[in-house]
Amino acid sequence: MISCTAIHDEFETRFFLEPVHRSWLTDLLGDRVQFDAPMQRYTTLGVGGPADALVTPSDLETLKTLVSGLHRRSIPWMVVGGGSNLLVRDGGIRGIVIVLGAYYKGIDEVSSGDTPAELSVRAGTRLATLCRYAIDHGMAGLAFAQGIPGSVGGAIAMNAGTSAGSIEDVLTSIAVLWPTGQVQRIDKKELAFDYRQLTLPVSDVSGMSSGSSDAPCGVIIDGNFRLEPADTRQLSLDAQKIVAERRQRQPLGIASAGCFFKNPSVGLSAGQLIDMAGLKGKRVGGAQVSMLHANFIINRGQASAADILGLAELVETRVAAQFGIQLEPEVIIVGESNYASKSV
Ligand code: EPU
Repeated sequence: MISCTAIHDEFETRFFLEPVHRSWLTDLLGDRVQFDAPMQRYTTLGVGGPADALVTPSDLETLKTLVSGLHRRSIPWMVVGGGSNLLVRDGGIRGIVIVLGAYYKGIDEVSSGDTPAELSVRAGTRLATLCRYAIDHGMAGLAFAQGIPGSVGGAIAMNAGTSAGSIEDVLTSIAVLWPTGQVQRIDKKELAFDYRQLTLPVSDVSGMSSGSSDAPCGVIIDGNFRLEPADTRQLSLDAQKIVAERRQRQPLGIASAGCFFKNPSVGLSAGQLIDMAGLKGKRVGGAQVSMLHANFIINRGQASAADILGLAELVETRVAAQFGIQLEPEVIIVGESNYASKSV
């Protein structure tokens, strides 16, 4: 997931989606725009208030017109992939949520055979689909991604991974649609990857001035991956083992956003710290620290975003008090606490 900075901070200028903007979106997208869309349906945590509008463009040309039009009209927007690493506050999102998943997906082989294969993968493709494709076609390198939910675009934007590897290890380039409406292919060496983070470079076509302190905001529309040839049967066995281990250690069937906090750069993992602080099973409303893996905050069914944030704050406070370590959320947190836009 990648977003314009404006949408991240609830204390930014309150935005109101004017009727004229609603008409423009309806004219451009027809039934592919949903107004006041409940975000709990689009996040694996299953919480979050309404987005002013949620759009699912069906092709690149519409996406270009949409993004450049939003930019010209100063309408804040963000892209949501699988919503698997996203917490939307209960007041929802003032601005536009772009979902690529349903229509913008597919895998093309740029090169294959015995040499490393190069795949071009559209951002809306599920990461699980890419992993399955790689196994079926005898391509190695994505073992770390087995069992990670979400879309390929989201995985690239978050540099998704585990201790066994991350997206940056197999990615060779990405294509980005900038708010200017231009598409640029960017080589991996120009991308700044960090722990669960990718910062896009400022460029002539990004529509950002090089002096700006904001990270450039663009839509990742595809990624190219280089994968090594390998035996399909062995890949399949390795994948089964990884998934089985995960099932044993993580609460996979229950609503969550995966690991909630980043691991500290040195020392014990977030899960170990939270566990040692005695917080497994701790509840705030419908949110609970998983009994299986302490770095998972689960929604037991009726949680609000406020419950989850309240529990996360409690965890941070306890861990800081006991170990002097400040945990930082890995989950991206967006939106407003209270639904206020209609009254502005
Ligand atoms: N541990 C505990 N108590 C717990 C959980 C873990 O003591 O409640 C201990 C484990 O026994 C182990 C250590 O903590 O000794 C590390 O645990 P684990 O192997 O589960 O790895 P992790 O660092 O907690 C990371 C990723 C996971 C990924 C796993 C498996 C982060 C924040 N988490 O977890 O990613 O699935 O490795 O490779 O990097 C995610 O990003 O959403 C995610 C779940």
